[in-house]
Amino acid sequence: MLFGMAEHHDPRSAAQAGRVRIADVERTFATADGPRTVLRELTLEVRAGEIIAVVGPSGCGKSTLLRLIGGLDLPTAGTITLDDVPVRAHDDSTAIAFQEPRLLPWRTIAQNVALGLPRGTRGGEARERVAELLELVGLGHAAEQRPREVSGGMAQRASLARALARSPRVLLLDEPFGALDALTRLKMHDLLLDVHRAQPTTVVLVTHDVEEALYLADRVLLLRNLHAAQAEPARPRARVVALGSSSGIDALGAARTAVRAPEVAADPRRSDGSLARLVPVPGSRPRDRGARTFTDLRTSLLDGLGVHHRLTNKENA
Ligand SMILES: Nc1ncnc2c1ncn2[C@@H]1O[C@H](COP(=O)(O)OP(=O)(O)OP(=O)(O)O)[C@@H](O)[C@H]1O
Ligand SMILES: [Mg+2]
Repeated sequence: MLFGMAEHHDPRSAAQAGRVRIADVERTFATADGPRTVLRELTLEVRAGEIIAVVGPSGCGKSTLLRLIGGLDLPTAGTITLDDVPVRAHDDSTAIAFQEPRLLPWRTIAQNVALGLPRGTRGGEARERVAELLELVGLGHAAEQRPREVSGGMAQRASLARALARSPRVLLLDEPFGALDALTRLKMHDLLLDVHRAQPTTVVLVTHDVEEALYLADRVLLLRNLHAAQAEPARPRARVVALGSSSGIDALGAARTAVRAPEVAADPRRSDGSLARLVPVPGSRPRDRGARTFTDLRTSLLDGLGVHHRLTNKENA
């Protein structure tokens, strides 16, 4: 049914998905301790209509990257273009949604969604578009409710509808499902895929959830934390010693070498840049969450995030 909405031709929902080119981007912040480089040598093309998931340790610059793509911040070096036009400021071509829905509590759900409409959208036209968006995210029945009267999942759907209201060429999502319970999160994944089919747009999704990344994305971008890089190598060894089993150590050592080797070989020039890995996810959506093809990818991505999960299981035992 959601898919059917795509056939409803509305010039504003027919906006093209945008192509984002990120070329040798650096972002350095001035801090009390001196300049701090958060993103470095980041080069990436996000194809029109692609869903790209961005994962990486806390503080590695995921939100910073979204802000740069959305024109809410400017790179210190390098360029970002949207359909070959440099991104210099935030405008209607991109929309961003966050972990918390950020709805205005004194306005209804419909009014909150209307806030996302392009400037100058008038009365009847605005009402029609808001109704269409609410229908798209399954909130048709909640239009007149206030944010405090709806569940967290509904509020997040309203936030998504507000972001979609301007038919962005690029939709930027910063851990949009991170605060939801597990079941609601799974439903939101399918909702996002329905929306993506109904309204062609490019999606850059920041997430901490590797399962979410593998279920939704065409490619997963793993960012490296530039500042943790020096301290990192000592950690696995210390944890292995704590485990106290030499056979376990050997098995883990072998497994880790196996998943790390291709990464190192992939692009040695980028070894100190922000891009740790860019992984295509096999198969077309909707994907089987339990597919065995993902097991290695999942292990490899978790490993890249510094989570050596077999070890963690034993530690928890
Ligand atoms: N305006 C700013 N001034 C100074 N430092 C900043 C600024 N914005 C971000 N930072 C720093 O840049 C680093 C990356 O921040 P960012 O919010 O992009 O990380 P993140 O990957 O989104 O982390 P998380 O997973 O915790 O959300 C952090 O160390 C943060 O303190
Ligand atoms: Mg963040």
